[in-house]
Amino acid sequence: MDIRATDTPLLEWTGDGLVIGLFEDAVELTGELATLDEKLANSIKELITEEEFKGKQGSSVFTRIGANSPVRKIILVGLGKPEALKLDSLRRAAATAARLAKKQKTKTLGISLPIWNNDPTQTAQAIAEGVQLALYQDNRFKSEPEDKGPQVETVDLLGLGGQEAAITRGNQIAAGVFLARQLVAAPANSVTPITMAETAQQIASDHGLQIEILEQEDCEKLGMGAFLGVAKASELPPKFIHLTYKPEGTPKRKLAIIGKGLTFDSGGLNIKGAGSGIESMKIDMGGAAATLGAAKAIGQLKPDVEVHFISAVTENMISGRAMHPGDILTASNGKTIEVNNTDAEGRLTLADALVFTEKLGVDAIIDLATLTGACVIALGDDIAGLFSPDDALAKEVEKASVASGEKFWRLPMEEKYFEGLKSGIADMKNTGPRPGGSITAALFLKQFVKETPWAHLDIAGPVWTEKENGYNGPGATGFGVRTLVNWVLSDS
Ligand code: BES
Ligand code: MN
Ligand code: ZN
Repeated sequence: MDIRATDTPLLEWTGDGLVIGLFEDAVELTGELATLDEKLANSIKELITEEEFKGKQGSSVFTRIGANSPVRKIILVGLGKPEALKLDSLRRAAATAARLAKKQKTKTLGISLPIWNNDPTQTAQAIAEGVQLALYQDNRFKSEPEDKGPQVETVDLLGLGGQEAAITRGNQIAAGVFLARQLVAAPANSVTPITMAETAQQIASDHGLQIEILEQEDCEKLGMGAFLGVAKASELPPKFIHLTYKPEGTPKRKLAIIGKGLTFDSGGLNIKGAGSGIESMKIDMGGAAATLGAAKAIGQLKPDVEVHFISAVTENMISGRAMHPGDILTASNGKTIEVNNTDAEGRLTLADALVFTEKLGVDAIIDLATLTGACVIALGDDIAGLFSPDDALAKEVEKASVASGEKFWRLPMEEKYFEGLKSGIADMKNTGPRPGGSITAALFLKQFVKETPWAHLDIAGPVWTEKENGYNGPGATGFGVRTLVNWVLSDS
């Protein structure tokens, strides 16, 4: 699919489907639109009246125009109230239109949406992202592709002539999101620690990043007892991935992104029971997937920032070699952990990843993890938890998320709750009581960061969606990639 920027006037554009965005309660046609409607024998006005189209955010209607018309179909998308227009409203409107256009077998599409905040560059990028993300299709595991019909081939962004670079950026970011979605959607017999390392190798060679894969012996030498404790029962070798993007010249900042990389989480000997969603636990490498997706995008966007992408990848399995509930592990910073629940494994792998990362001497660290069911209970499927002892870094993440449209809500790191992790025999337990479960998980991670500004993102909810939701789903969302990219690119 080719997305193009053009200054062709609305009245002169020809093709299969023309998308027009209209604000809520402002659906009377004026100016260019009135002229276009006249040219189309009042079809737009009729469509609005017949369908009682009000311009509500997320709504859409369409109509066919006579066969000899230069425009075959008109698609109207609602933008909501003009004063509430966000950049993400345009991303969503473009997605709604693209989905409808595909259903209507529209090959050539023109999109006319308002420019957000007098910023044609951000507008063009967001629309390109919305179109790409909505038309994503994953046929890898189907013997026959499901959508054999005609595909959208060209998309013209009207009124955005000259914004080719912004569209390219949108495409590159979408490619990062696609990689994350593919990794999360693929089952655990397809995406393993070995293939994750191979994917990282591929990114390194495609986009010129440096790569280091630490094997089990390397991790042993570094004393990564927490990570290796989790990996013990798996038949597959653990892989510790470290990709580095280095800009030419001196970087403005050095940053690190860490992703939880459990290619499957059975729970270990505290095995996940019936109704626990064990069959969905292929998604437990969603943090690592977002990390690799961001690496793919950053490798193409080439900012003036050094970025380290890290994941301690393994499976949480059961076998005669499995860690026992109650085992004591020693992490690479020397701290000892009583594993009172083997299903709280993500924080064990992240502990050693955090210690490793802080030694790189970066200015800030963000980790992403499908860490707790408690976070899903607290914030639902759409919103990720944001935890940070550093207000400035928390603000950076919040700022990056506004433009990305990915939602985060900051939760407190209530020190008092660390009492729930006190152990009689080791430095700490890995699991606290059920209440405040996502907070104690964050407090556990904090034990492995000394002084570098750090934020933890619990993405257990938004990593997956059962239903179609805006430009996502159904299925893996690739959540996190866009916020990470915005964070790296921001000039904080
Ligand atoms: N991977 C899970 C968390 C999870 C739950 C992710 C639902 C996505 C959807 C994590 O390893 C886990 O099992 N967490 C436990 C922690 C508990 C044992 C303290 C949980 O949330 O129940
Ligand atoms: Mn678990
Ligand atoms: Zn897990």
